[in-house]
Amino acid sequence: MSNVQRVLSGIQPTGRFHWGNYFGAIRQYIALQEEYEAYYFIANLHALTTIRDAQTLRQNTLDAAIDLLALGLDPDKAALFVHSDVPEVTELCWILMTGTPMGLLERCHAYKEKKAKGLTADAGLFTYPVLMAADILAYDSNLVPVGEDQVQHIEVTRDLARSFNHHFGETFVMPKAHVLEQAARVPGTDGEKMSKSYGNTIEIFEDPKTMRKKIMRIQTDSRPMEEPKDPDTDHLFQLYSLFADEAQRAEMAETYRRGHFGYGMVKKALADLAEAYFAEARKKRAALAADPNYVRQVLRDGTEKARAKAGEVLERVRRACGTAWWG
Ligand code: TYM
Repeated sequence: MSNVQRVLSGIQPTGRFHWGNYFGAIRQYIALQEEYEAYYFIANLHALTTIRDAQTLRQNTLDAAIDLLALGLDPDKAALFVHSDVPEVTELCWILMTGTPMGLLERCHAYKEKKAKGLTADAGLFTYPVLMAADILAYDSNLVPVGEDQVQHIEVTRDLARSFNHHFGETFVMPKAHVLEQAARVPGTDGEKMSKSYGNTIEIFEDPKTMRKKIMRIQTDSRPMEEPKDPDTDHLFQLYSLFADEAQRAEMAETYRRGHFGYGMVKKALADLAEAYFAEARKKRAALAADPNYVRQVLRDGTEKARAKAGEVLERVRRACGTAWWG
């Protein structure tokens, strides 16, 4: 196996991306493409567990590609592709599934949470972590930038890789999660983890007016203005910090500790920073949206790169486990 270091990550096209996706994951994709051989994909096969409408899935997939390119993903540096365009991964998923203990999947939180709520889970959701393991292992990925909520799945991936390697001989590269402490769990407007399923998101490309409205509705406590406050336990401050530079952050922290300020002022400062922060990407997005053929070509080129790598890994896997009956 070569010494090239590879980074890989996937993101579901279940709706428009939000600040949690950006700071928890996308910003890392863009930073890491500079140093690593990079593979990033739009996880449409995973999204099928929740989106059951063809036109929506198609549209979301293209929107996701446009968003990622607008935010700085550079197709000359990273392969950007759509999950289902690399069939090698689903073959690998099956091979891994044959060695996956049921108990391991029963402990995974997406399934456990759904079951705890009394909802019926399908086999797609139950086996989701195995597909995610295949997504990662198919490209000899060393590093996987994700938010904290995905770390358990990367642990499962490591378990499955270790067990396959043990059984069939050294085949897979052992991947590592890459989580940025500051953005491991970006809070939503209610202070819980920002997530589409909690309805507490602020989208990256929300129109500026709606974005401001959502920011103004971020939940805060009702302590008197005069009272000094601890910035480190405040989700509004945490959001502000994601956009602020070092000096702005220090100054706002000082304001919190002094007291005598209103949360409205913090919200307005946050809205100003957020609007400026994504202004460039917003312009770029408009240009990309007007040129869907370019975006499609980027995805086709990305698929070619991704399939070349996944094909090479699959060849190794088939030989290791014996499905390559001819060799
Ligand atoms: P998904 O589509 O739910 O989220 C995409 C990325 O955004 C991160 N994220 C957050 N980070 C910090 N704070 C938040 N509030 C927040 N919300 C979302 C997620 O951690 C993730 O990194 N299973 C994955 C997609 C996937 C994948 C893969 C990722 C499929 N195969 C292989 C890595 C490698 C998912 O559902 O992410």
